[in-house]
Amino acid sequence: MAPAQAHGVPVTPDNNIVPAAVRSGIAVEINGEHFVHTGDPQMPLLWYLRDVLWLTGTKYGGAHGENGSDLVLVGDKPVSAITQPMVKLDGKRITTVEGLAANDGALHPLQQAFIDEDAIGCGYCTPGWLIAGVDLLKRKPQPTDADIDQLTNTCRCGCQTRVRAAIKRAAAGKAGQA
Ligand code: FES
Repeated sequence: MAPAQAHGVPVTPDNNIVPAAVRSGIAVEINGEHFVHTGDPQMPLLWYLRDVLWLTGTKYGGAHGENGSDLVLVGDKPVSAITQPMVKLDGKRITTVEGLAANDGALHPLQQAFIDEDAIGCGYCTPGWLIAGVDLLKRKPQPTDADIDQLTNTCRCGCQTRVRAAIKRAAAGKAGQA
């Protein structure tokens, strides 16, 4: 049912004013595509990605994103998608793990390095490591072990050592090489 009007402002059937963010929509760019969210402005980005857009690569990483599995890039900065309500993201450019590969499907060098180093166990944590790793390599093209160990991502399958090797392989430009 179309909302009624109260003094020119749309209202819901139970007479609450429809929030401005819903009336006008929240425009976001995700992996190069433009979307307008017209649902609950407080919906966390993680649920918008997974439940609305079916971009299920980004995983739930705890109520505060503590294990890093829900990292995405907002602009150039890695952030926990569960902590970001859509209303804060109007006009933002967001990159998820699905957006790391090139348009022709070629993997990002860090994705390839994860394969080369067999750094993927069950895979649950992998999207978060990739986002954190891409950010790290941008900030520190030749990261040390200490730099990598400062990432707050965790892996319950015990892949940290191989993740470290993968990040270093990508840094060395050896992704895809024997
Ligand atoms: S690969 Fe399983 S949690 Fe990291």
